[in-house]
Formats: sequence, structure tokens, C-alpha cells
Amino acid sequence: MTTKGLWIDGRLRYGGDWNPEQWPPEVWHDDVALMRAAGVDLVTVGVFAWSRLEPAPGRYTLDWLDRVLDLLHDNGIQVALATPTASPPPWFTSAHPGAMPVTADGVRLHHGSRDTYCAAAPAYRAAARGIAQVLATRYAHHPALALWRVHNEYGTTCHCAHAEAAFRRWLRERHGSLDALNDAWVTSFWGQHYADWAQVGAPRATQYLANPGQLLDFRRFWSDTLLCAYTEQRDLLRAANPAVPITTNYVLGDWVPVDHARWAREVDLVAVDHYPSRVDGGAEEQTALAADLARGWARHGAGRPAPWLLMESAPNQIHVPGRMHTKEPGRMTRHSLAHVARGSAGVMFFQWRAPAGGAERFHSAVVSHAGADTRVFREATRLGAALGRLAETTPGRVQAAVAIAYDAASGWALRHPGMPRDGLDHPGEVAAAHRALWHAGITTDLITPGDPLDGCRLLVLPALYLAADATVDWVRRHVHAGGHLLVTWLSGVADTHARIRLGGYPGAYRDLLGVRVEEFHPLADDERAPLTGGGTGRIWSETVHLTGAETVTGYLGGVLDGRPAITRHRVGDAHTWYVSTRPDQDTYRRLLTDAARLAGVEATCPAAPPGVEAVRRRDGDQSWLFLLNHTDRTQRVPATGHELLTGEPVTDAVTVAPGGVAVLREARR
Ligand code: GLA
Repeated sequence: MTTKGLWIDGRLRYGGDWNPEQWPPEVWHDDVALMRAAGVDLVTVGVFAWSRLEPAPGRYTLDWLDRVLDLLHDNGIQVALATPTASPPPWFTSAHPGAMPVTADGVRLHHGSRDTYCAAAPAYRAAARGIAQVLATRYAHHPALALWRVHNEYGTTCHCAHAEAAFRRWLRERHGSLDALNDAWVTSFWGQHYADWAQVGAPRATQYLANPGQLLDFRRFWSDTLLCAYTEQRDLLRAANPAVPITTNYVLGDWVPVDHARWAREVDLVAVDHYPSRVDGGAEEQTALAADLARGWARHGAGRPAPWLLMESAPNQIHVPGRMHTKEPGRMTRHSLAHVARGSAGVMFFQWRAPAGGAERFHSAVVSHAGADTRVFREATRLGAALGRLAETTPGRVQAAVAIAYDAASGWALRHPGMPRDGLDHPGEVAAAHRALWHAGITTDLITPGDPLDGCRLLVLPALYLAADATVDWVRRHVHAGGHLLVTWLSGVADTHARIRLGGYPGAYRDLLGVRVEEFHPLADDERAPLTGGGTGRIWSETVHLTGAETVTGYLGGVLDGRPAITRHRVGDAHTWYVSTRPDQDTYRRLLTDAARLAGVEATCPAAPPGVEAVRRRDGDQSWLFLLNHTDRTQRVPATGHELLTGEPVTDAVTVAPGGVAVLREARR
């Protein structure tokens, strides 16, 4: 990843997706005037406009987009120009029925929504390159163009004949020979040995449990295939004007077959879309998690701290199970500034103006169905002004000394059928560890196995199921250099092909942890394992033998009564912890606080009261403290410096309004 000048130009960008193709030109002028009033300086256009740009194969109608880009430029607003390839026009479907996707059950999908294509189908790829090339040729030097946004939220898969042929090619490349593939997939089990490449297929619906190696490789194949679809567009856009940065917006979620860390090396700027799915405080926890993930991916691609951008977020309602939840006044601002606190180069919404119809007619917008004389528009305008006042924080690097490892492939592998328990969830365990640290007030990096660990005092591996040899070396080097380690159940159990590491769990890390796990005792959903010290474990428990470690917490009652549940071991200067169950939230928070303290790590702002989130950014000897008050009470935090949003000096304590935010330029020490 290279970071081009635009993103480190010392201001925070503000805007969102705008769909002028849905409106007559009079509305464009109203919208641009409203954007200026709100302080918007970057809008994404063209995301779903393919059928308006190419109404028939090879016939282009670009005049309207010329006018839109000129209008924005005349008003000082820059453009993230999208390639519209996530929504092919109806003519494409009619002309290429064989490029429509097929589910694992063999059902071919049809036009009617978006994202309905097989990204391995040559006809789709050719059409996508075609429209991207037309846009590149026409707009690569347009003065409004600040960023190319390729596609929208890559994430669709397919099981058609095109996909299967491409999967075979990918497998040949990955494994080299059929013998190696048979070995990696352990096809000796259930007599699945392949004698010819032609016998190897996509994992379609089958009678009983599918082969885990095949399932995992299919996910990896799709991540790489979608990445190729991105890079071929990127390369032609780059050829048209190498100075313009290029990205694609990441969508987060368990279903996404994309290894975002790998992709980070191919984008000029990591861009994420984030929509919390919870209403209560969980929304704030999810926001912090998403922002820390994005920052980690940005660093992974760059090999050093790099900017990233919140590319889409909801200005008002969010989808929660069964309904939409209207964000309370101030919550949109707080969520937006939580992303900025954790490094986002700006705040972008989906979407600017609510559509009059279509599938997402009730999705929230800055300009809603009620117009701009609204609470949301007024809040958005105040947010635009606030971002202007926070520009000086942009060089600040988020300060964290605890890192949690996240690995997309471990998440995929744990979802396979035939595991000792349903619902095993690496991203969920990453979130649980992150949440515990968040409640402890400890800022955390989220990293990819193999990332540099300089500055990391405590590394956490939550259900990091797959352990490639390189990952094991990376963890070992960290510990032998004095770094502390906390490993939870189901980590290091399998190798990179999801084959079990033998000799007792957690195979890869037994010696570092001083434990050997003999057997699993997965818990039912409503079951709890009482622990010494008053807490409980859920989801999982294990028979743990000590081979050097000491018991910190034991199981109470049942077959595991008196046996270790949480252990600690000493390796040189480092302490290594093993956690064989999922502790309840309070126990987990106390455990991680203890592990961090032993590693010399304290809360970011120990004086911050409960419910006030604190994130510190630093540039040389200058630091900024972001304080987000998630409570409904006024809070005071002892501090000295200068509050940027009010412009007031702070001599002893800063006051943060209920649901409000304060950003302090701290007095230099
Ligand atoms: C994503 C998409 C948008 C829209 C929103 C709805 O971010 O990119 O087009 O569908 O989700 O939440």
C-alpha cells in the first residue's frame, strides 16, 4: 500500500455517497448548496450508475456525469469516483445468462437486486473492465477527482462452472500437485482421494459434512479472485493517471469471503464501511472494534501506521435485528468522532440524500425524506464544523501497547461443520477480548499474524484456530523478546490447511504456555462453568494439564472440578497466559487488566470515569486526548490543555456533556 499525498494533507475529509442519477438537475444544485452548508468536501458518485452510464452495450451516456463533476468542482467539493461494477445493467444479464451466479445448492440467481454476477465469469470481468476503462479515459485528469473507489463492498461468491474452473487453476497454483492437495485436504478420510484434477470441484451441496480443507481453500480462492477483479480495474485506472489514489470499500461481516489484510497491500488507502448492529452500548464497542480493525489493516498494508477512511456509515437509523433503530441525538456525532479518534482520515456517510424508492428507500440519509430542515441535517452541519476544528490531530498516531491478532481464515475454518460445537466464532472471540479491554479503558491494536510487534507489550490470540508455521515463529519471537502473551481456547489447534496439530491442544503453543489440553468439554448455550474467584465460563471448557504453568483460576464443580481453567507461565521475562473457557465479561475484563498491568500497560486515561471512552493520539511530544461520553450524565475528567471543539483552555478538568465528545490538546510534558 502506498499512501498518496491527498490523505495526509492535514484535514479531515467529510461527505458521503451521493446518487445524482436518481434526481433531476435542480436537485443537484440544492444538494451541492446543502453540502457546502454542512462543510462537505468529498462525495462518492457513480456507485450504482452503470445502467445510466452504459444503457446498452458499448453505448455511453456520460454527459450527466460530466456536469455533476464540474458542478462539484465549481463548488470546491472533491470526488471519490466509483466504478459501478457492483450492479451490472439488465442488458448484461440478458446477454450473459451464464455469468449469473449459482449457489452451493445449484440455484442460478437472476437480475433484480445488486451484486448478481459471477466474478469469475469472463464476460462479467470483461464488461467491468470496459466500463472502468471508459471512466478512466474520461475522468482520470478531471480536477475534481480525488480518489477512485473501485466497485462496492466486494463479497459475492459463486459455484458455477466458471468458478469451478478458476478454483482448479487456483488450487494447482497453491498446491503444485494433486498429491499435495490430497495431503492438505486429508482426502484419505472417507475415501476422497483425487486421481485427476478434473475430479476436484467447488464445494457444492453434498450429503453430509463437507471436507474442511476444500471449504477453507474455496474461501481463500474467492478472496483472491475478487482481489484480481479489483486489481485489474485498479491497474487500468492507475495507468490513466498514477497520481490519483485508488481504493475499494471493505464491508465487514462473517459472511464476507475477503481477507482484508491481504487486500490492504493492494489499496492506496484502507476504506471501511461500518454499520453497528446493536442499539445499546454494544454499538460503541462495535464502533471501536471496526475502527481498530481498519487501523490495523492500514498498517499491515503499509508496514507502518497509515491513514484509513470511514467510507460509509449511517447518519441516522441503523438496522438492528427485526427493525431500524433511530440514533439518539448526538450519537451519530459520537460514533463519527470515535472513528476519527482511532485514526480515520474523515467521516463519510451512506448516504447524502434518501432515495424516493428502491430497495433501500428507508435507509438513513443526511438529507432525509423530510428534507434538510431536520435534526439530523443540523447535527451533520455541526459535525462538519467540528471536523474542521480537529484537523490538527491528523498527524497523531493512536497509542496502544496491547494487540489482538485477527485472522480471516481462522474465522472461516471455525465455521466449518463437524467442529466440537456449533457457533464457534473467531471474530466473535476477537470482539469479546477487545470489548473486555475497551471496558478496562485500554486502547488496543488489532493486527494480522506476522505484523511488526514493536511497541506491543501484550499479544492476545483469541481462538486463533489456524497456526501456520510462520505464525508460530512470530508468536515465539515476541515471547522470547520479552513480550507477554495471552492465548485463548482453540488457538493453534490446526495448521494452515486446517489439519490438526497432534500431541495435545493447543498444538502450536503448548510449550510457550506450559500446558497440555487433553480433551474438550464444549458447553451448551445455556450452560455455565463456575470458576474459582466467583466468575463463570461459557461456550467451552477443557481438561488442562500443567506442564510448567501455574493455575490462576480453576473450575468449580462438575467433571473438571479443581482443574485449571486459566493458567500463567513464565518464559524468560515474559508471562504467558492460557484461558480455556470464555470468562464472563467482568472476569474477562479483570483478567485482561491484570495481564496488561503485569506487562506494564495501564488504561489510556486512568482518571476517566466509567462510560467515558478515552483514546490518545501522539505526534512527537504533542498529544491529543479524545474523550467520548457514552453516558447520559455530564462527566468531568481531570486534565490540562486546550479543548478543541469549544476552543476553551482546560486548567484542571474537562467537562464532557452527556453523550458528548471532548478533544483535548494536552499540555506538553
Ligand atoms: C453498504 C453499501 C451501501 C448500502 C449500505 C446499507 O454500505 O455499500 O450501498 O447498501 O450498506 O447499509
